[in-house]
Amino acid sequence: MEVLVLLGHCVLGIFVYFSTILMVSSSVSSFPNTFLFGTASSSYQYEGAFLSDGKGLSNWDFFTHKPGTIIDGTTGDIAVDQYHLYEEDLNLMNHVGVNSYRFSISWARILPEGRFGHINWAGIDYYNKLIHALLHRGIEPFVTLTHYDIPQELEERYGAWLSSEVQEDFKYYADICFRSFGDRVKYWTTFNEPNVAVIRGYRSGMYPPSRCSGSFGNCSYGDSEREPLTAAHNVILSHAAAVDVYRTKYQKIQGGSIGIVMNALWYEPFSNSSEDKLAVERAISFYMNWFLDPIVHGKYPEEMREILGLDLPVFSKHEVEKLKNGVDFIGVNHYTSFYIKDCKYSECEPGPGNSKIEGFALRTPQKYGSFIGKETEVDWIYVYPQGLENIIMYIKERYNNTPMFITENGYGYKDKPNSNVKDLLSDVERVEYMASYLKALASTIRKGADVRGYFAWSLLDNFEWTSGYTLRFGLYHVDFGNLIRRARFSAIWYRKFIASKMKKNSTAQVYSM
Ligand code: GAL
Repeated sequence: MEVLVLLGHCVLGIFVYFSTILMVSSSVSSFPNTFLFGTASSSYQYEGAFLSDGKGLSNWDFFTHKPGTIIDGTTGDIAVDQYHLYEEDLNLMNHVGVNSYRFSISWARILPEGRFGHINWAGIDYYNKLIHALLHRGIEPFVTLTHYDIPQELEERYGAWLSSEVQEDFKYYADICFRSFGDRVKYWTTFNEPNVAVIRGYRSGMYPPSRCSGSFGNCSYGDSEREPLTAAHNVILSHAAAVDVYRTKYQKIQGGSIGIVMNALWYEPFSNSSEDKLAVERAISFYMNWFLDPIVHGKYPEEMREILGLDLPVFSKHEVEKLKNGVDFIGVNHYTSFYIKDCKYSECEPGPGNSKIEGFALRTPQKYGSFIGKETEVDWIYVYPQGLENIIMYIKERYNNTPMFITENGYGYKDKPNSNVKDLLSDVERVEYMASYLKALASTIRKGADVRGYFAWSLLDNFEWTSGYTLRFGLYHVDFGNLIRRARFSAIWYRKFIASKMKKNSTAQVYSM
């Protein structure tokens, strides 16, 4: 019986495998020759070595060591130990055939005490080795300066993002990175998902520095209605300061480009009512345009100004000038979509969605009992590829077709401790998910969106923030006991996908010669 089930599983796998290859191969030629195909990671989730070679403590080191913060009581102290195993991981990337790797630099590894202490040359050395090893394999480094983790020192000295002083620190840190690595790094992003960091750090308090108030969460300090706005304002100005340094001191000589990565959800109206449609606009503005509007257009979205009034900080004339056109590209992290229900003109219960800081827009995955897309084992991911197409076309219109990269897209499973090896590696649903989202992506390119790359989250299973090691997003399975990496079905599929794309491109080159 068991053999039959196994056989069935295999046949199903092979069927899905070939049908998904077929499904995307028709759209494969939509990806330009220079398109980056990669995988994405972040320092805290991958590196481990949290105290090695002079690294300082980050806000995430500090946070995960407090009891009760992480679901399974774990930390990123070791994570997947990429600090020591990077050569092995780069070999895996080579095997998959990616031409780019998105990773982040640990600020506290370079500057253990921010601008108040010394530069940790061992940290610089590590990233030099990593970059060298990537380029040696023909893999383009795509570097994020801050993926949630910052030196804890800044938190303790002046409250990090709540103080305008953080702009000085970020500028100082960015300058060191451009100076040290910019001769070889051609793609920089300042922040990963500042919207998520700010909302979870200062509104719900789920992430460090665990600040919130009232019914938004359970924190000892904070003001959920105001602090997120202050923190976001300082993030936006820090971004502008770093871009200014890059553009005035480095860009001409180094020839790279700089952007920011946003978490970008797509929203469908809960009903056809004009109230729900307006609520969708507000939801996008209060989540993504909150950061992108100032950076591209020099001002906060109208909806925010109208609802938040004097609570919304103001940019000086000088700041507005510095802000405008403050990106060469936009990084889009997109996983899923939700419905939005109006709470401004319609009655909503007190609670989620029904507040000024959320724009009176209630986010929900289902209407009348059916979900927006297929449910997954991760409670916030629903499979709705149309959402990727819609959000890209939305960004294209609102931000004058600024070049875009899909800097993250991926599918997670719950950890199942007692599974056999075959089950651990057979991730058919992930393959279906990636194939359908890549197909949607190809369609946006055909419609004229200037999308230049796609990074799968993630090469390896890793430390998934407050979910610890209970969720697995890797194309490779990692045994967290001995750190052995094993290719899943999706790693093999992605390899074939990229190879088929390259083949088409080389044919295209031959024809155009
Ligand atoms: C993103 C985040 C990543 C990763 C991913 C999967 O929002 O940038 O670090 O955790 O979600 O949950």
